[in-house]
Amino acid sequence: MKNLPLPRIDQNSRLHEHLQRYCRLAPGEIWQDPEGSHRIGCLDATDQARISRLMAGTKATLAIHDPPYNMVAFDSAEPAEFIAWCSRWVDCTDSALDDDGSLYVWLGADQSDHFQPLADFMIMMRSKSFRSRSLITMRNQRGYGTQKNWMAVRQELLYYIRGNPVFNIDAAYTDIPKILRGYYKDIDGKTTENLQRSKSKNIRAGNVWVDIQQVFYRMDENVNGCYAQKPMKSYERIIRASSNPQDVIVDFFCHSGTALIASELLSRRCFAVDIDPVFCEIAIRRLEHFRRTGKTGWQNGNPFEAELAEDPQLGALAGLSEKKLSKKETAIL
Ligand SMILES: C[S@@+](CC[C@H](N)C(=O)[O-])C[C@H]1O[C@@H](n2cnc3c(N)ncnc32)[C@H](O)[C@@H]1O
Repeated sequence: MKNLPLPRIDQNSRLHEHLQRYCRLAPGEIWQDPEGSHRIGCLDATDQARISRLMAGTKATLAIHDPPYNMVAFDSAEPAEFIAWCSRWVDCTDSALDDDGSLYVWLGADQSDHFQPLADFMIMMRSKSFRSRSLITMRNQRGYGTQKNWMAVRQELLYYIRGNPVFNIDAAYTDIPKILRGYYKDIDGKTTENLQRSKSKNIRAGNVWVDIQQVFYRMDENVNGCYAQKPMKSYERIIRASSNPQDVIVDFFCHSGTALIASELLSRRCFAVDIDPVFCEIAIRRLEHFRRTGKTGWQNGNPFEAELAEDPQLGALAGLSEKKLSKKETAIL
């Protein structure tokens, strides 16, 4: 396994600035996939005119959004400003989605601050064109606050719909076999138990997902430098359930490009957006890397290995020693 981790790019302003020279998109630009499937826009998710340009008249079946919800980024301890900002990208989603569409939003609930911003986001959504459908919890393997509180291990995923969107029930099953019997019921005069009646030998994911591994550096899908990468399996589950092959999926906060790669894997088209040229570049590179190697990420390597081999300043900014960067260890895929 390579040992070329990048630090968090968002927290290292000099590294972030240096990486911009290797980015093919400038703010406002849109990358068209040469294979014709996907688009990536270096855009602000709240900019209605730019989002319309990205969509160019196409309607998406599904939106999966994972906005930053660290309110410190908004220079305000109050959720109001954050919620007003959310309201704007929800309106952009409204115009990008088909009348029969699904919207999934990952959002945190700060347990020491009245579960914000999740609580106020839910209230804001009452005034939009979407109906609430489910509140999914994904269980993390790592948590915090274990000594004087319940360990915090959940990630919230809101599911909204409008019209009559697709829902493929096969996608709602896990790989976990059913092991508990029970729920006896008489059918045609015969007493049956749940395993005899059920459509699958496996349990449904339901709205508490316990079977998804958080991303870490030993996993193929890991993208070093990204700080908020979601597991591919969670996106595959959402996409299988709430879209069909060839459908368009929008992701307004694409970061490492998880929705993009899951869409490629499942023969959907992804129109992805990130405001930051560096994360747009990483998402494009991740797609190219996947098409070249079949790998969904770089494990403990990184998306800028070629540049690191040539650019000592980049290595220094990334905190990578010359030994690590020696030709032998940076064999480029
Ligand atoms: C939590 S991350 C998304 C993680 C993603 N789901 C993944 O699996 O990699 C949020 C991303 O939103 C981007 N972002 C922040 N403000 C934005 C805006 N106004 N418009 C578009 N993207 C924005 C950030 O640059 C960051 O990459």
